[in-house]
Amino acid sequence: MTSTSGLNDDNIIFAAGEKEVDRLQLQHEIMKDAMKDLIKAPLNLSKPGLQILDQATADGPLLPNTPQNSAHTNIPSGIWLKDVAAVSPAQHEYTGTDIEPYYPVPPPAHMTFFDQSMTKPWPAHMNATFDLVHSRLALPGAGITPIKTVVTQLIDLVKPGGWIQQTEMVYNPNAVKLSFEELDTLPERVLKELNEVGGYWQFFTIWGRKED
Ligand SMILES: C[S@@+](CC[C@H](N)C(=O)[O-])C[C@H]1O[C@@H](n2cnc3c(N)ncnc32)[C@H](O)[C@@H]1O
Repeated sequence: MTSTSGLNDDNIIFAAGEKEVDRLQLQHEIMKDAMKDLIKAPLNLSKPGLQILDQATADGPLLPNTPQNSAHTNIPSGIWLKDVAAVSPAQHEYTGTDIEPYYPVPPPAHMTFFDQSMTKPWPAHMNATFDLVHSRLALPGAGITPIKTVVTQLIDLVKPGGWIQQTEMVYNPNAVKLSFEELDTLPERVLKELNEVGGYWQFFTIWGRKED
């Protein structure tokens, strides 16, 4: 299957829907357990008023228009942004962006969510405004846009002296014996396949500071 726009603005790489939200919630819990600290960049979270962006956030327990009696109302409400807020010793301002509006409704205090593709120019007024720009398991969504363009745009959002942190997967098809096409069915099969072959997904986290 290919993206009709070629830009992944129709989000052909990552699925959309309730099962995908479930998968992302579970994945977040596994990664949190492995990483312990969600923020590895040496940001001083004790200093109040930091501006923190999570791009491709896919955050939120509720899909838009999900009935209030849906099982999703029982899903723990925080993914990355809310878990960071929960452990931060001071109050900060949090922004989440994505091309799928899986945002908490209503947004928690001090959190703002809006639609923004990483392949598109960001609003000019956001340049150099964030103390931390975070992006996790998102770059495959760049589609045909060069990764360098996407990452350069993210760095532009960082304040001088601020930090960017990125986490991505090390894709090794041999480890799980799946072809690229078979990745389509990966969400349903991942635990079974990984157990059978004794494989695992590796991921890495890098962070860097923008010069003053
Ligand atoms: C694998 S999920 C990761 C979500 C979240 N960052 C996490 O770590 O749990 C990938 C996310 O990228 C989003 N996405 C895909 N293409 C995008 C694009 N062009 N711009 C912004 N977000 C995109 C998807 O909607 C999805 O929420």
